Amino acid sequence: MTDPDPVVEAVFDAVAATAPEIRAALPGRRVESGTDNPSGESVMAGDLYADELLGDAITAVDGVGSFVSEEREAAVDAGGAVGDGAYAVAIDPLDGSSNLRSNNAMGTVVGVYDAPLPATGRDLVAAGYVLYGPITTMVVADESGVREEVIERESIGDDDGGRAVSRSVVEADLRLPEDPLVYGFGGRVPDWPDDFTAYAREIEDELKLRYGGAMVGDVNQVLTYGGIFAYPALVDAPDGKLRLSFEANPIAYIVEKAGGAASNGEIDILDVEPEGVHDRVPLYVGNGELVERLETALD
Ligand code: AHG
Ligand code: MN
Ligand code: MN
Repeated sequence: MTDPDPVVEAVFDAVAATAPEIRAALPGRRVESGTDNPSGESVMAGDLYADELLGDAITAVDGVGSFVSEEREAAVDAGGAVGDGAYAVAIDPLDGSSNLRSNNAMGTVVGVYDAPLPATGRDLVAAGYVLYGPITTMVVADESGVREEVIERESIGDDDGGRAVSRSVVEADLRLPEDPLVYGFGGRVPDWPDDFTAYAREIEDELKLRYGGAMVGDVNQVLTYGGIFAYPALVDAPDGKLRLSFEANPIAYIVEKAGGAASNGEIDILDVEPEGVHDRVPLYVGNGELVERLETALD
């Protein structure tokens, strides 16, 4: 068992401490902010708030040299030499924020890289996500494996009403179930290329549809029940929708550490060489055999 990396632990402490604040702020931030992010997508007030809180918390961690966010054009310098003792942290502050209005699950995605960004997923030293579901959980993957924690605010009796946050490990060795049960495929069916459509028709006959519109929630179902999640290449968007640095890479790292596989349709997601931190990539992730069948289907 490798000793936990103190900087990685401090990053996920900061993410866990911020999660209840983000969750508590969501009811008042279900409206569009009126701005677009670097990916050209409209940003919700909740996205901006989560980005602000997480940016402050993560850049304050000793050992974090650079910070990248879905909501910010360029990397934020956090004062460390990335790759030479300091890490670069990439986040999706609020994944699935279109679920805010419909009150469905959403989350926060975190990748901790040991190289300046943009970098490949092979430079990840840890990754994780917070899931704002009926309860708040955090999945963390590092060299020693994958664990699931419950994140709770604790009221402590001091006079300023300050409240601590507790992290309780509920699954110390999270593994992808061998037998696949669920699938979730994003995008509109008419926009799927023919080869993916043929593959999807096979999977529909074998598994149960579970698609909630937030990658974190949909991937968490795959990690819980076994199966496959995809946001595929689309006819008019051959790079798909998800961003490599702060969506696909961290999810691929987590699922592969849990015994699964992740592909862009041709190669392991973690080997995809990005040009920019907002590069998009098709993502097919989960059960190894199903991912292999997908790569053959797209051949
Ligand atoms: P984000 O809210 O960070 O932009 O991410 C949304 C992504 C991802 O969470 C999800 O898998 C996908 O968008 C859903 O896209 P569709 O609405 O096209 O299904
Ligand atoms: Mn997202
Ligand atoms: Mn987002």
